[in-house]
Amino acid sequence: MINGEHLRLRALERSDIPLFVRWFNDPEVTDGLLTYLPLSTSDEERWFDEMLKTPPDQHPLSIEVLEGEKWVLIGNCGYQNIDYRCRLGEIGIVIGEKAYWNKGYGTEAMRLMVRHGFETLNLNRVFLHVYATNQRAIQSYEKVGFVHEGRLRQDMYKNGAYIDVLVMSILRSEWESARAKG
Ligand SMILES: CC(C)(COP(=O)(O)OP(=O)(O)OC[C@H]1O[C@@H](n2cnc3c(N)ncnc32)[C@H](O)[C@@H]1OP(=O)(O)O)[C@@H](O)C(=O)NCCC(=O)NCCS
Repeated sequence: MINGEHLRLRALERSDIPLFVRWFNDPEVTDGLLTYLPLSTSDEERWFDEMLKTPPDQHPLSIEVLEGEKWVLIGNCGYQNIDYRCRLGEIGIVIGEKAYWNKGYGTEAMRLMVRHGFETLNLNRVFLHVYATNQRAIQSYEKVGFVHEGRLRQDMYKNGAYIDVLVMSILRSEWESARAKG
């Protein structure tokens, strides 16, 4: 368990699949994601089985928020493309429950994941890709301390248009000096 102020990140469970299927069939949620086709429960079950075969440090984590006495599943996040020679990893996140958008949970989950990347996985550079149209995500990543480092022009095609993809990253040195400043 990775514990935050309002959230916890835990290992995915097979019982999470029905919620994932709902989220990844919602066009408002998938607007910011690579997903572009309708997804069945069987698709997601197959994805889950394949995911279990990948290195454990690259398994996504479920994001839960405490409501009263109950932990509510609202999203997931994780690392992929980890390279331990160059000590870098790519991070991704989705808050699938739209009622929980704009409440600071995405930012808190990303802060926890960045700390996990530096303090547990011993990475030096954490990076991500985000669509230039995804202002909510960009604002959240900037708050975590991600720096804009590049723009892949017309790298994605969504909703009948090409969109630019931004590359953002945070280095261990930047994260450490931000922490030292409090
Ligand atoms: C992107 C996502 C992870 C952000 O999580 P979240 O919990 O909604 O975000 P937060 O509340 O932590 O932060 C969002 C910030 O963006 C701001 N924001 C929201 N809409 C905005 C807009 N259209 N333009 C600019 N800023 C915006 C919010 O006000 C907030 O900033 P503030 O706290 O300074 O006011 C979440 O919305 C999500 O999962 N969306 C769908 C999937 C997705 O796009 N994933 C990211 C793929 S790169």
